[in-house]
Amino acid sequence: MRLPAAAYRKGLTEVSEVVNKKWSRRRFLAARPAVLATWQTGGQVENLDEALSYQRGIPEHKRFHLALRAADTGGRTLIQPRAGVGLVKDQIELLRTLETEGQADLLPTTIDSYTRLNRYSDAQTGIEESAHSGQSLLNGFPAVNHGLHACRLVTEAAGRPIEVRHGTPDARLLAEITLAGGFTAFEGGGISYNLPYAKNVPLERSLLDWQYVDRLVGLYAEEGVEINREPFGPLTGTMVPPCISNAVAIIEALLAAEQGVRSITVGYGQCGNLYQDVAAVYSLRRLCREYLDRFGHDAVHLSTAFHQWMGGFPQDEAQAFGVISWGTVAAAFSGATKIISKSPQEAMGIPTAHANVQGLRATRQVLSMFKEQQGLSCTEVSREDEIISAETTQLLEAALRLGEGDPVQGTVRAFQAGALDVPFAPSRAARGAIIPIRDLHGAVRILEFGDLALDGELRAFHRDLLEQRARAEERAVSFQMVTDDIYAVSKGRLVGKPRAGTRVRPAVGGTGGISDAERGSAAAGTTAAYRVRP
Ligand code: 5AD
Repeated sequence: MRLPAAAYRKGLTEVSEVVNKKWSRRRFLAARPAVLATWQTGGQVENLDEALSYQRGIPEHKRFHLALRAADTGGRTLIQPRAGVGLVKDQIELLRTLETEGQADLLPTTIDSYTRLNRYSDAQTGIEESAHSGQSLLNGFPAVNHGLHACRLVTEAAGRPIEVRHGTPDARLLAEITLAGGFTAFEGGGISYNLPYAKNVPLERSLLDWQYVDRLVGLYAEEGVEINREPFGPLTGTMVPPCISNAVAIIEALLAAEQGVRSITVGYGQCGNLYQDVAAVYSLRRLCREYLDRFGHDAVHLSTAFHQWMGGFPQDEAQAFGVISWGTVAAAFSGATKIISKSPQEAMGIPTAHANVQGLRATRQVLSMFKEQQGLSCTEVSREDEIISAETTQLLEAALRLGEGDPVQGTVRAFQAGALDVPFAPSRAARGAIIPIRDLHGAVRILEFGDLALDGELRAFHRDLLEQRARAEERAVSFQMVTDDIYAVSKGRLVGKPRAGTRVRPAVGGTGGISDAERGSAAAGTTAAYRVRP
């Protein structure tokens, strides 16, 4: 994946014409043979009509979009874990356990890292070694290598709708094989599965490759088969300000809808402050609907996903249950259509089936206790909703202006200009100039804005809140606070506190400067931590 600079630039020129326009069926079908030729199992899905008729035979209770619609209508929140292992029989057993013992409403199949990087030969070695050693040596299910028949065995073995969850900048072949294989939802998007997951993939490239995925889903929809699509909400998973993740989710929803996708779930990763989290989901749902309607996509069914804490977890399982439960409270109040659950073994890596079941059961307990009391309205939530909505609108309008009305061109230009940015992203396609920090109450704010398209008034709002925290903690707003915040939850609290004996008088008027060295080390620390557990 490490492209030299010249190849990166070549990648840019090849795809620089990418615009937000629905691909004709002809264009899609012309691009298809080259995609299917990238691995030998591609040949198994050549016949689209066969894939469509297989999908038409999937019973209603296993169709993702119907489950989401029913949940939204009934005011219920569904629960979905993450899970993927290297071998087919083990994946089947794992899903059955999550369904029966964990009572998961929706199931996943998490794809391994080799497949995410299109390294199918390495995935093959992983499969062979897993079979040989009798345990999974891959960190997910290599669906492309296993191929069509194996995917159908997996989807037929479960009694609930199943989604493909991954982190793949170029997911074209993966989408072809898994949709033909009976999965009824597909996560990701050209921004959200590039910037947090890759270093050298140009944004134009991933946006174009995800147009292919969305057009494939659009084509299924034209043939009467609705597949749910879910932009990956949490991005880098570490203190992403809600306006950033919401703006990206809304852009990806618009791009998917343009290619004919009719069922879209926009996601949000828990930040930790209850009021901000609830407001973020309210704002996301409302604004996304507004933008979809404005672009003529009023037929799209929109739902929401709430991700339990995506940052570092406490090692201690009892403490981890606390984090899981707190996320569930926020998700329940927010009225999200589904919760993506974590396990008490999150700090250790990929959970066992048993730990995954425990996460599901803890989530279910809290969610059930909230059944009669969903929704949270108070001044704090309204204020946060107002702020997040104003910020998200400014980011989206800036991107649209830069793209002269085209959200794809606008996205490319906005990330180039730093008008849109993602904190701690490893990708060269994002500036990585913004630095998030918590305020006194634990809400995620912005310390360094770079060229982010937020006006002076909104920036001043953030600055004031940070100075309030500095006064309360008797220390200057500094990069140390950011570092303390990043590790706080894993150490048992939300807001990072100064270590004993390090209090100083805050510098006058100062948010303090952040050196490049500090910026670099934070980015390296967090993304590395995030990426070892993709
Ligand atoms: N099974 C279960 N969870 C997984 N995750 C990644 N791969 C798997 C897998 N194969 C989870 C990580 C983290 C999130 C990003 O995805 O534990 O919570």
